[in-house]
Amino acid sequence: MQMYLDIFSSLPTIRTERLTLRPVRMSDAEDLYEYSSDPLVARHVLWDAHSSIHQTRSYIRYLLRQYRNAAPSTFVIALNDTGKVIGTIGFMWLQQDNRSAEVGYSLNRAYWNQGLMTEALRAVLEFGFTKLNLNRIEAQHESDNPASGRVMAKAGMRHEGLLRQRLYNKGRFTDVDLYAALRQDFKARTR
Ligand SMILES: CC(C)(COP(=O)(O)OP(=O)(O)OC[C@H]1O[C@@H](n2cnc3c(N)ncnc32)[C@H](O)[C@@H]1OP(=O)(O)O)[C@@H](O)C(=O)NCCC(=O)NCCS
Repeated sequence: MQMYLDIFSSLPTIRTERLTLRPVRMSDAEDLYEYSSDPLVARHVLWDAHSSIHQTRSYIRYLLRQYRNAAPSTFVIALNDTGKVIGTIGFMWLQQDNRSAEVGYSLNRAYWNQGLMTEALRAVLEFGFTKLNLNRIEAQHESDNPASGRVMAKAGMRHEGLLRQRLYNKGRFTDVDLYAALRQDFKARTR
């Protein structure tokens, strides 16, 4: 079955009840820097907290390059009410042969625990299965970051295992929990 990777070169805008997931723009730099510079947000991700807005701008340039190359990439998450950009969610990698991909995300700390990332992840899973034609979508989180595991579970992903000391991140080896959603589960739920 065909995959629709050219979608990454003109990433669509997805609207949910409270959020708009859309391609990044250079004018998002200040909103993105506001939380990318927060060490608590960066604690369990594979990037370091940004120490200047220049780092945020180079990250935006990287995402724009990914769009130009039709490579797996990331949406920004904006609030419908105000348009403020409060996070990102997107694809870390995608394997065409296996029709599988991995999703990753992060959110401004001022907006945690309101169900927002669960709402965004549900929308991205639907996009992955219906628009990219994926069969399997993975996500992983450091085991000492259980809130992220809750997001995965609430969005309908299934816990597949704990990978001991899988990562060396920010000065320590860390266990990782792996989750995945399958196309068949998604179709059964939406039928
Ligand atoms: C992880 C993250 C994306 C969660 O986003 P969010 O919008 O707050 O998530 P939601 O509100 O949809 O769900 C959070 C859930 O975690 C739970 N939770 C929060 N802190 C927790 C903790 N310390 N232990 C266990 N559960 C926790 C909440 O109660 C909620 O579950 P519930 O709805 O069953 O009550 C956000 O905290 C974040 O961006 N963290 C920093 C970046 C990051 O870690 N990204 C993920 C890398 S894998």
